[in-house]
Amino acid sequence: MKLRPEEEADLNFILAPIKNDDRVQNMRNYIQHGKISTYDHVESVTRLSYWINKRLHLGGDEKVLTIGAFLHDYYLYDWHYTDGGHGLHGFSHSNTAMNNAVSHFGIGKRTQSVIESHMWPLNLTKVPRSREAWIVCLADKFISTKETIMCR
Ligand SMILES: [Fe+2]
Ligand SMILES: [Fe+2]
Repeated sequence: MKLRPEEEADLNFILAPIKNDDRVQNMRNYIQHGKISTYDHVESVTRLSYWINKRLHLGGDEKVLTIGAFLHDYYLYDWHYTDGGHGLHGFSHSNTAMNNAVSHFGIGKRTQSVIESHMWPLNLTKVPRSREAWIVCLADKFISTKETIMCR
């Protein structure tokens, strides 16, 4: 998945205020899958989401899509230590991420719903309700699977 120079610039412009925040940089300290940090994970999901939206001409709002994608796992803890093997993280972290994103960046309803529904179908009742939410939900599944396979 290759982005054109003008697309890279576009993506950087939208995400600069988010990426420059120390709390967001903190995601580098948490492991998502294998050796992949949460920061690198959300970066991959964001780039794939942007690419899907562009190449398939889906017409999703780029700001809602990319900020939602970048903050979809903004739960700010290492789930390997806090989960205790109960699997609760899978169900709860989308809400934690959404609440953090609201309190730190004041994101709007449409971006909130992208974050809230990204774990569907695990969170059965939180069905993606916009094209941006569907794109991030699918991109996250694809990247997570790839990262999990790579670390085996
Ligand atoms: Fe997640
Ligand atoms: Fe994720």
